[in-house]
Parts: sequence; C-alpha cells; structure tokens
Amino acid sequence: MVAPHRPPVSPDAALEAHLQATRDARLADYQAFLRFPSIGALPAHDDDVRRCAEWLAAALTRAGLEHAEVAETGGHPVVYADWLHAPGAPTILVYGHYDVQPVDPLELWTSPPFEPVVVDGRMLARGAADDKGQIHAHVMAAAAAFATRGRLPLNVRYVFEGEEESSSANLDRWLEANRERLAADAVIISDTGFFEGNVPSLTVSLRGLMYAQIDVVGPPIDLHSGSHGGVVQNPILALATILAALKGPDGRVRIPGFYDDVVELTEEQRAAMAALDFDEAAYQRAIGVSALVGEVGYSTLERRATRPTLDAHGIWGGFHEAGAKTIIPAHAHAKVSCRLVADQDPAAIFAALRDFVLAAAPPGVDVSVSALGQGRPSRTPEDLPVVRAAERGLEAVFGRRPIHIREGGSIPVTASFESILGLPVVLMGFSQPHENAHAPNEWLDLDNYEGAIRAIIATFDEIAADG
Ligand code: BES
Ligand code: MN
Ligand code: MN
Repeated sequence: MVAPHRPPVSPDAALEAHLQATRDARLADYQAFLRFPSIGALPAHDDDVRRCAEWLAAALTRAGLEHAEVAETGGHPVVYADWLHAPGAPTILVYGHYDVQPVDPLELWTSPPFEPVVVDGRMLARGAADDKGQIHAHVMAAAAAFATRGRLPLNVRYVFEGEEESSSANLDRWLEANRERLAADAVIISDTGFFEGNVPSLTVSLRGLMYAQIDVVGPPIDLHSGSHGGVVQNPILALATILAALKGPDGRVRIPGFYDDVVELTEEQRAAMAALDFDEAAYQRAIGVSALVGEVGYSTLERRATRPTLDAHGIWGGFHEAGAKTIIPAHAHAKVSCRLVADQDPAAIFAALRDFVLAAAPPGVDVSVSALGQGRPSRTPEDLPVVRAAERGLEAVFGRRPIHIREGGSIPVTASFESILGLPVVLMGFSQPHENAHAPNEWLDLDNYEGAIRAIIATFDEIAADG
C-alpha cells in the first residue's frame, strides 16, 4: 500500500525555483547540523549539546530571523528566535527539539551516526528525522521566504529545546517564566510523521508517559546459593513476580484504578480509525514480529495509539557473564513505563503503580519505585482553523489531502503549551513510518524533507490568509 506519489512542489513558482537552485547548499547545511552529537541524555555530550544549540541560533540568524538566543533553562538550553514584522497577522510558535537519542548499538549502523550521508534519496544519521531534520526544514522555510519575498506572511517565534528526549524536565518552568515573550495564537510542532505508506498526515492525539524504575534489594552482599538457597528471598525472582503481576493474559494492566480516567473513543472515532487504509500484515512484517498482541476488544491501530500500555525497558541484576556463578544476588532492577491517554494523570498513575508494586512484593526484600519522567497525553480539536490551514498547506504541496491520525508516541510539552500558554497545537510532522527513530540507521526521505519546507510556507500562507 503505497500512496500515489509525486515529488512535492510549492505552489509559489518563484519559491520553487529558489528552492531547486539552493538544494545542494541546503543539504550541506542540514548535514552540518547533524554532525553535532547532541545526545541530551548523556552528560559526556553536554558540551556537544551546547555547541549544537549555538550553531542552531546562528543558523536562525543566517536565515533572517531575529533575537536569536541560547536561553538557559537549568538543563540543556532552549534556542529562541522570532520575527514579528507582520502587524495584524497571527503569531505562530514553532517548537522542535535538537537533542537526539543515544546511538547504541553502534555496530548495527551502516555508517557512523554523526557522519550524515545521502543513500537512496534518504538522509541517514542520528537525528535525521527525530527531530533535527524537521527543525532544519523550518529554518530553511523561513530562509527561503526571506530570500524570495523579503518577509514572512505572519509573525513567528521559534522554541527549539534540548531535553525532549529526557521528558522536557526543565521546559515547563521556562515556559512559565517566559509567558509574555511567548505570546502567540497557535503552536506548530513538526516532530511526528506520515501514516503507513507515506501518506501525508496531521496528528490529532499523542499519548502521555509515566516512566519509573523498580529497585529490589535483598541481602547486603551476594550470598552463596548453596549455603543459603532455600531460606532467602531471591531479588531477581521477587522482581519477576512483581513484573508478572502487572499485566493479565487479556493484555489489561492490573493496577487498580489504571483505566478509571481513560476516555473511550466514540463509535464515530472508532469507525474513522477502522476506515484508515492500514495493512496489518505489512505492518507486522515491517516491524519483524511473529504476532501482534494486545488488549482484548481493541484493534491494532487502537491499541498502538488510543489505549494505555505498560512496558518494561530494561532489567538487570546478578550474574550475566559466561559460565555459571552460584549466587543469590544482592539486588535486581527494572525500568518500566506506561503510555497514557486522556484523561489519565501521570502523577496519579505513578502513585498507583508504586502502591501496586509495593503490595505485590514478596517478603524478605526491600522494594522501592522511583519516577524517571512524566508527560501528559494531548488532543488537538480536529476542526480548528489552524488545523484546516495546515491541511490546505499540505495538500497544496503533496497533492493529496492529509489524513488525521493518532500517534502512540509522546511529546510532553504539547500538553504544556495547552495548559501553560493556552495555545492549540498543530502536529504537522514529515517523517516516514519505519524511519528508525531511536534505532540504528535513522533516516529521513529527502522528498519528505523538501516537501516539509514547501508545506511549512504554504501553511503559513494559509494561516495568514485566514487572518
Ligand atoms: N518525536 C518523538 C515523539 C513521537 C514518537 C511522535 C512516535 C510520533 C511517533 C519524540 O522525540 C519522542 O521520542 N518522545 C519520547 C518522549 C519521552 C522521552 C518523554 C517518546 O515518545 O518515547
Ligand atoms: Mn522527536
Ligand atoms: Mn524521539
């Protein structure tokens, strides 16, 4: 199932000609951005993250934007810039993130993650799609508009952060402290993607996240399992008991109250999802699993975007080298998270998980649960004027009206733009499914990247025309 496809073209002929003439220089600039190993989660890369922020601020200035600044947040800096010379026109806040995920396992990359290369019409590098490529498209869109028209059709403020992949730990406080200077009418975020088959899409909901670590502590030091086995609680088995209790064979999370605040889709919304052109077998093949499983009573599309989940991400403890070592380990650990949907509250879900885990713990071990990050789910009303304008902008460039989709991933600040700044958020992303975000060999299709630049300007034009 591949969408009818033609290379994206701007409806503005002068802009199209300029973009075609400047393509090589633009790709070189995109690659320069990707060369910074801006891995936000690893302290060893703190300086790289900052250097990347400084490069981005300079790139915004080169594009023609004003007041570019690397602003302190207490964590990795936010890069801010604006252009406010369209009196009477709306103001759009563009958000994205320049931090990237770690690159391990390195040996699975076909070329080094921070040495971007173009292969088969795709930019291949960590951050190519998530999210540096999409930020870069925004900067290039502004640059092309200034170069061909001398102006933008509306006012813009750019907020590019360095901690999205770490749950945006310091961003809410920065938004609160900068409320006045962030005054706008709507937010555009390009950090999502097209639907299966590379179908242009607007995302209308994202899941939230509650991430936690479980620590199980037994004896103060490893014990000989022959001398003491049979009388001591084994921390690894205790952890396994706890993890196994979290979900039932029906795919339902067993934490009491877990589903209490879940807003079910309406029959109409379920019908709209069921009508999407989704090839489940092709999806299963693409992700390489032997079966798709999940919560009883829901379709695959519903399960991966509209239902809450519980997953484990890492588990460690005891002995895992070659050969046998007979110990009862002193401790064992796991990282788990729940994807959340409206109206689940991450803090309430964390408390419920903690209570459940502590109650499920067998005697003879000390169990603790700590929070490692939270973000709320978000919804975008589908008939907002800015959503309609983005539909027209995408259609003008990609030649096909975008569909509305729900995404299972999370962008924690989306809900904060709504709750702290009172702004609606349009999720207009351009990556393709199976782009290997967070995995080895991340890529962005250059047609999608070039289309993004044209669609961003077309959308700005549409928003400005609405007034
Ligand atoms: N760009 C993604 C969010 C996303 C994922 C959108 C999948 C659409 C589809 C973002 O950078 C991301 O990875 N978010 C994290 C959030 C977490 C670290 C708080 C996620 O979803 O795991
Ligand atoms: Mn992202
Ligand atoms: Mn990401």
